Amino acid sequence: MTRRPMVAGNWKMNMDTTQAVNLSQMISDRYENDMDEADVVLCPPFIDLKSVRNVLEFDHSKIMLGAQNVYQLMPEGTAAATGEISVEMLANVGCDYCIIGHSERRQGFGETDELVNAKALLLAAHGITPIICCGETAQINEEGGTVAHVSAQMETALAGYPPEKAGELVLAYEPIWAIGTGRTPSPEFADGVCRALRGVVENLFGPSAAQDVRVLYGGSVKPGNAALFFEKDDIDGGLIGRAALKADDFIAIVKADR
Ligand code: PGA
Repeated sequence: MTRRPMVAGNWKMNMDTTQAVNLSQMISDRYENDMDEADVVLCPPFIDLKSVRNVLEFDHSKIMLGAQNVYQLMPEGTAAATGEISVEMLANVGCDYCIIGHSERRQGFGETDELVNAKALLLAAHGITPIICCGETAQINEEGGTVAHVSAQMETALAGYPPEKAGELVLAYEPIWAIGTGRTPSPEFADGVCRALRGVVENLFGPSAAQDVRVLYGGSVKPGNAALFFEKDDIDGGLIGRAALKADDFIAIVKADR
Protein backbone atom coordinates (compact mmCIF):
# COMPACT_ATOMS: atom_id res chain seq x y z
CA MET A 1 0.00 0.00 0.00
CA THR A 2 1.25 3.48 -0.75
CA ARG A 3 0.98 5.81 2.18
CA ARG A 4 -0.87 9.10 1.76
CA PRO A 5 1.48 11.98 2.43
CA MET A 6 0.51 14.32 5.27
CA VAL A 7 1.32 17.91 6.13
CA ALA A 8 0.20 19.16 9.54
CA GLY A 9 0.44 22.79 10.65
CA ASN A 10 1.24 23.26 14.33
CA TRP A 11 0.18 26.82 15.06
CA LYS A 12 1.44 26.63 18.66
CA MET A 13 0.33 29.66 20.72
CA ASN A 14 -0.09 31.89 17.67
CA MET A 15 -3.23 33.51 16.19
CA ASP A 16 -6.12 35.20 17.91
CA THR A 17 -9.55 34.08 16.77
CA THR A 18 -9.83 36.59 13.93
CA GLN A 19 -6.38 35.67 12.65
CA ALA A 20 -7.17 31.95 12.95
CA VAL A 21 -10.32 32.36 10.89
CA ASN A 22 -8.44 34.40 8.28
CA LEU A 23 -5.53 31.97 8.05
CA SER A 24 -7.71 28.88 7.79
CA GLN A 25 -9.87 30.65 5.20
CA MET A 26 -6.81 31.56 3.13
CA ILE A 27 -5.44 28.02 3.33
CA SER A 28 -8.83 26.58 2.44
CA ASP A 29 -9.13 28.97 -0.53
CA ARG A 30 -5.70 28.04 -1.86
CA TYR A 31 -6.16 24.33 -1.30
CA GLU A 32 -6.85 22.89 -4.71
CA ASN A 33 -8.34 19.60 -5.72
CA ASP A 34 -5.02 18.39 -7.06
CA MET A 35 -3.62 18.64 -3.54
CA ASP A 36 -5.95 15.88 -2.56
CA GLU A 37 -3.02 13.49 -2.79
CA ALA A 38 -1.85 14.70 0.61
CA ASP A 39 -3.75 14.86 3.89
CA VAL A 40 -3.64 18.34 5.37
CA VAL A 41 -4.24 19.01 9.07
CA LEU A 42 -4.52 22.38 10.82
CA CYS A 43 -3.73 22.40 14.55
CA PRO A 44 -4.77 25.77 16.02
CA PRO A 45 -4.84 26.61 19.73
CA PHE A 46 -7.77 25.08 21.66
CA ILE A 47 -9.63 28.37 21.70
CA ASP A 48 -9.68 28.52 17.89
CA LEU A 49 -10.63 24.91 17.16
CA LYS A 50 -14.32 25.66 16.79
CA SER A 51 -13.85 28.67 14.51
CA VAL A 52 -11.44 26.81 12.27
CA ARG A 53 -13.81 23.83 12.18
CA ASN A 54 -16.60 26.20 11.08
CA VAL A 55 -14.47 27.60 8.24
CA LEU A 56 -13.58 24.12 7.00
CA GLU A 57 -17.17 22.88 7.25
CA PHE A 58 -18.56 25.89 5.45
CA ASP A 59 -16.09 25.27 2.60
CA HIS A 60 -16.77 21.51 2.58
CA SER A 61 -13.01 21.28 2.83
CA LYS A 62 -11.07 18.04 3.00
CA ILE A 63 -8.58 19.75 5.29
CA MET A 64 -8.68 18.12 8.73
CA LEU A 65 -8.54 19.51 12.25
CA GLY A 66 -6.08 18.68 15.01
CA ALA A 67 -5.55 19.79 18.61
CA GLN A 68 -2.12 20.44 20.13
CA ASN A 69 -2.67 18.63 23.44
CA VAL A 70 -5.24 16.81 25.55
CA TYR A 71 -5.69 16.30 29.29
CA GLN A 72 -5.50 12.73 30.49
CA LEU A 73 -5.32 12.40 34.27
CA MET A 74 -8.97 12.46 35.33
CA PRO A 75 -11.04 9.30 35.37
CA GLU A 76 -13.60 9.46 32.59
CA GLY A 77 -16.70 11.44 33.35
CA THR A 78 -14.97 13.56 36.00
CA ALA A 79 -14.52 17.23 35.31
CA ALA A 80 -12.51 18.48 38.29
CA ALA A 81 -9.56 19.70 36.24
CA THR A 82 -9.71 23.46 36.16
CA GLY A 83 -8.24 24.92 33.02
CA GLU A 84 -7.88 21.65 31.11
CA ILE A 85 -9.47 20.30 27.91
CA SER A 86 -10.79 16.75 27.76
CA VAL A 87 -10.70 14.23 24.94
CA GLU A 88 -14.51 14.32 24.82
CA MET A 89 -14.33 18.07 24.14
CA LEU A 90 -11.86 17.51 21.31
CA ALA A 91 -14.09 14.84 19.80
CA ASN A 92 -17.13 17.07 20.18
CA VAL A 93 -15.53 19.98 18.32
CA GLY A 94 -14.60 17.63 15.49
CA CYS A 95 -10.88 16.98 15.93
CA ASP A 96 -9.50 14.26 13.69
CA TYR A 97 -5.98 14.37 15.14
CA CYS A 98 -4.16 15.54 18.26
CA ILE A 99 -0.46 16.31 18.59
CA ILE A 100 1.06 14.75 21.71
CA GLY A 101 4.57 14.57 23.09
CA HIS A 102 5.85 17.74 21.43
CA SER A 103 9.24 18.67 22.87
CA GLU A 104 7.90 22.05 23.97
CA ARG A 105 5.48 20.19 26.26
CA ARG A 106 8.10 17.70 27.39
CA GLN A 107 10.54 20.49 28.24
CA GLY A 108 8.16 23.20 29.40
CA PHE A 109 5.61 21.06 31.24
CA GLY A 110 7.63 18.03 32.28
CA GLU A 111 5.65 15.61 30.15
CA THR A 112 7.12 12.11 30.23
CA ASP A 113 6.94 9.22 27.80
CA GLU A 114 4.50 7.53 30.19
CA LEU A 115 2.22 10.54 30.10
CA VAL A 116 2.41 10.64 26.31
CA ASN A 117 1.44 6.96 26.34
CA ALA A 118 -1.61 7.66 28.52
CA LYS A 119 -2.69 10.40 26.12
CA ALA A 120 -2.19 8.14 23.08
CA LEU A 121 -4.41 5.42 24.54
CA LEU A 122 -7.07 7.92 25.58
CA LEU A 123 -7.19 9.48 22.12
CA ALA A 124 -7.37 6.08 20.42
CA ALA A 125 -10.31 5.13 22.65
CA HIS A 126 -12.17 8.23 21.47
CA GLY A 127 -11.49 7.91 17.76
CA ILE A 128 -8.90 10.71 17.54
CA THR A 129 -5.60 9.77 15.92
CA PRO A 130 -2.52 10.91 17.82
CA ILE A 131 0.37 12.60 16.06
CA ILE A 132 3.11 11.43 18.42
CA CYS A 133 6.28 13.54 18.49
CA CYS A 134 9.74 12.49 19.51
CA GLY A 135 13.15 14.10 19.17
CA GLU A 136 16.63 14.40 20.60
CA THR A 137 18.71 17.25 22.01
CA ALA A 138 21.73 18.57 20.14
CA GLN A 139 23.96 16.80 22.61
CA ILE A 140 22.37 13.39 22.08
CA ASN A 141 22.60 13.99 18.35
CA GLU A 142 26.28 14.88 18.53
CA GLU A 143 26.98 11.80 20.61
CA GLY A 144 25.31 9.59 18.00
CA GLY A 145 22.45 8.59 20.28
CA THR A 146 19.51 9.81 18.21
CA VAL A 147 18.03 6.52 17.07
CA ALA A 148 18.29 4.88 20.49
CA HIS A 149 16.73 7.94 22.14
CA VAL A 150 13.74 8.42 19.85
CA SER A 151 13.12 4.67 19.58
CA ALA A 152 12.89 4.42 23.38
CA GLN A 153 10.55 7.43 23.48
CA MET A 154 8.28 5.85 20.90
CA GLU A 155 8.33 2.34 22.43
CA THR A 156 7.00 3.73 25.69
CA ALA A 157 4.55 6.07 23.99
CA LEU A 158 3.05 3.18 22.00
CA ALA A 159 2.82 0.56 24.75
CA GLY A 160 -0.61 -1.05 24.77
CA TYR A 161 -1.84 0.90 21.75
CA PRO A 162 -4.71 -0.95 20.07
CA PRO A 163 -3.01 -3.05 17.35
CA GLU A 164 -5.92 -2.69 14.94
CA LYS A 165 -5.43 1.09 14.97
CA ALA A 166 -1.63 1.08 14.85
CA GLY A 167 -1.51 1.49 11.07
CA GLU A 168 -3.41 4.79 11.29
CA LEU A 169 -0.90 6.34 13.67
CA VAL A 170 1.15 9.38 12.74
CA LEU A 171 4.64 9.68 14.22
CA ALA A 172 6.76 12.81 13.96
CA TYR A 173 10.53 13.00 14.25
CA GLU A 174 11.39 16.50 15.44
CA PRO A 175 14.98 17.10 16.55
CA ILE A 176 14.74 19.62 19.40
CA TRP A 177 17.70 21.54 18.00
CA ALA A 178 15.94 21.97 14.66
CA ILE A 179 12.66 23.38 15.98
CA GLY A 180 12.38 27.08 15.23
CA THR A 181 16.12 27.44 14.70
CA GLY A 182 16.50 27.31 10.94
CA ARG A 183 18.85 24.34 11.38
CA THR A 184 17.91 20.93 10.05
CA PRO A 185 19.47 17.49 9.90
CA SER A 186 20.30 16.27 6.43
CA PRO A 187 17.32 14.67 4.69
CA GLU A 188 19.30 11.41 4.63
CA PHE A 189 19.79 11.48 8.38
CA ALA A 190 16.11 12.33 9.03
CA ASP A 191 15.06 9.55 6.66
CA GLY A 192 17.15 7.04 8.62
CA VAL A 193 15.59 8.10 11.91
CA CYS A 194 12.09 7.88 10.41
CA ARG A 195 12.94 4.38 9.16
CA ALA A 196 13.99 3.41 12.67
CA LEU A 197 10.66 4.70 14.03
CA ARG A 198 8.86 2.58 11.46
CA GLY A 199 10.95 -0.30 12.78
CA VAL A 200 9.62 0.35 16.30
CA VAL A 201 6.09 0.02 14.94
CA GLU A 202 7.06 -3.18 13.16
CA ASN A 203 8.48 -4.70 16.35
CA LEU A 204 5.38 -3.80 18.35
CA PHE A 205 2.60 -4.32 15.83
CA GLY A 206 4.00 -6.18 12.81
CA PRO A 207 4.96 -5.38 9.22
CA SER A 208 1.56 -4.32 7.95
CA ALA A 209 1.14 -1.58 10.57
CA ALA A 210 4.72 -0.47 9.92
CA GLN A 211 3.99 -0.21 6.23
CA ASP A 212 0.89 1.90 6.83
CA VAL A 213 2.04 4.21 9.63
CA ARG A 214 2.95 7.70 8.53
CA VAL A 215 6.17 9.20 9.80
CA LEU A 216 6.62 12.96 9.47
CA TYR A 217 9.72 15.08 9.76
CA GLY A 218 9.43 18.39 11.65
CA GLY A 219 11.86 21.18 12.50
CA SER A 220 12.49 24.26 10.34
CA VAL A 221 10.69 22.87 7.31
CA LYS A 222 10.02 25.65 4.79
CA PRO A 223 9.04 25.89 1.13
CA GLY A 224 12.70 25.84 0.09
CA ASN A 225 13.66 22.58 1.80
CA ALA A 226 10.39 20.64 2.13
CA ALA A 227 10.72 18.58 -1.04
CA LEU A 228 14.22 17.42 -0.04
CA PHE A 229 12.72 15.75 3.03
CA PHE A 230 9.46 14.59 1.51
CA GLU A 231 11.09 12.78 -1.41
CA LYS A 232 12.75 10.36 1.00
CA ASP A 233 11.28 6.86 1.21
CA ASP A 234 10.52 6.83 4.91
CA ILE A 235 9.44 10.45 5.34
CA ASP A 236 5.74 10.76 4.59
CA GLY A 237 5.35 14.47 5.16
CA GLY A 238 5.95 17.21 7.68
CA LEU A 239 4.89 18.77 10.95
CA ILE A 240 5.27 22.47 10.31
CA GLY A 241 5.56 25.27 12.87
CA ARG A 242 6.56 28.75 11.73
CA ALA A 243 5.95 28.17 8.02
CA ALA A 244 2.40 27.00 8.80
CA LEU A 245 1.47 30.54 9.85
CA LYS A 246 1.63 31.94 6.32
CA ALA A 247 -0.91 30.53 3.89
CA ASP A 248 1.41 30.82 0.87
CA ASP A 249 4.29 29.05 2.62
CA PHE A 250 2.08 26.34 4.03
CA ILE A 251 0.43 25.64 0.69
CA ALA A 252 3.84 25.55 -1.02
CA ILE A 253 4.90 22.90 1.50
CA VAL A 254 1.72 20.89 0.89
CA LYS A 255 2.45 21.02 -2.84
CA ALA A 256 5.95 19.72 -2.18
CA ASP A 257 4.57 16.61 -0.48
CA ARG A 258 3.70 14.50 -3.50
P1 PGA B 1 9.22 24.86 13.22
O1 PGA B 1 8.41 24.03 14.34
O2 PGA B 1 8.68 24.40 11.88
O3 PGA B 1 8.91 26.30 13.51
O4 PGA B 1 10.66 24.52 13.39
C1 PGA B 1 8.06 22.69 14.13
C2 PGA B 1 7.34 22.15 15.34
O5 PGA B 1 7.66 22.56 16.47
O6 PGA B 1 6.43 21.33 15.22
